Amino acid sequence: MAHIERITQVTDELVCAFERLMPQLTTYAPAPGWGILEAIVSNNENSLFVARAPSGEIIGSATLGTFTSPTGTHAWIEDVIVDENWRGQGLGEALTRACLDRAAEMGLKEVNLTSRPAREAANRLYQRMGFQRRETNLYRYPLK
Ligand SMILES: CC(C)(COP(=O)(O)OP(=O)(O)OC[C@H]1O[C@@H](n2cnc3c(N)ncnc32)[C@H](O)[C@@H]1OP(=O)(O)O)[C@@H](O)C(=O)NCCC(=O)NCCS
Repeated sequence: MAHIERITQVTDELVCAFERLMPQLTTYAPAPGWGILEAIVSNNENSLFVARAPSGEIIGSATLGTFTSPTGTHAWIEDVIVDENWRGQGLGEALTRACLDRAAEMGLKEVNLTSRPAREAANRLYQRMGFQRRETNLYRYPLK
């Protein structure tokens, strides 16, 4: 059985795993190098989880990020990816669940994520898990 693990230290293995996984999430962002992964794991407000195959190989990942504003601490799940050879076996759910469990452990009341409609498997997964669609407009201001 595959298992989920929280990453606390960046290794070459992790960097290589993201080189394989990242193109399976998006072609817009390059794979995170050592520096970005270090920025994630060195900040205790973030949690980086990976799924490992029985062989130990990293076959998926998800990140929980939190930040505090005047209305409280907000949690977001980002970049849920499962290697295409391992999909449909509950790993996406297990990674998302690990993020939810960590947010609950941090005492947070709710967790947010976005997923564009074309990501059909992801949208089915999140709705099956109990995420509720919010009526809001999502904006982005391009800086460059
Ligand atoms: C979304 C994603 C993480 C789900 O991972 P997963 O390990 O397949 O997730 P689960 O097995 O827990 O459930 C996925 C759902 O997609 C279906 N599915 C998607 N691709 C599948 C495949 N290749 N084979 C079988 N089932 C698949 C499953 O049936 C399941 O839906 P259902 O149980 O309602 O039928 C994975 O498809 C992925 O990495 N996609 C590309 C990146 C992405 O879109 N990430 C989400 C960003 S918001």
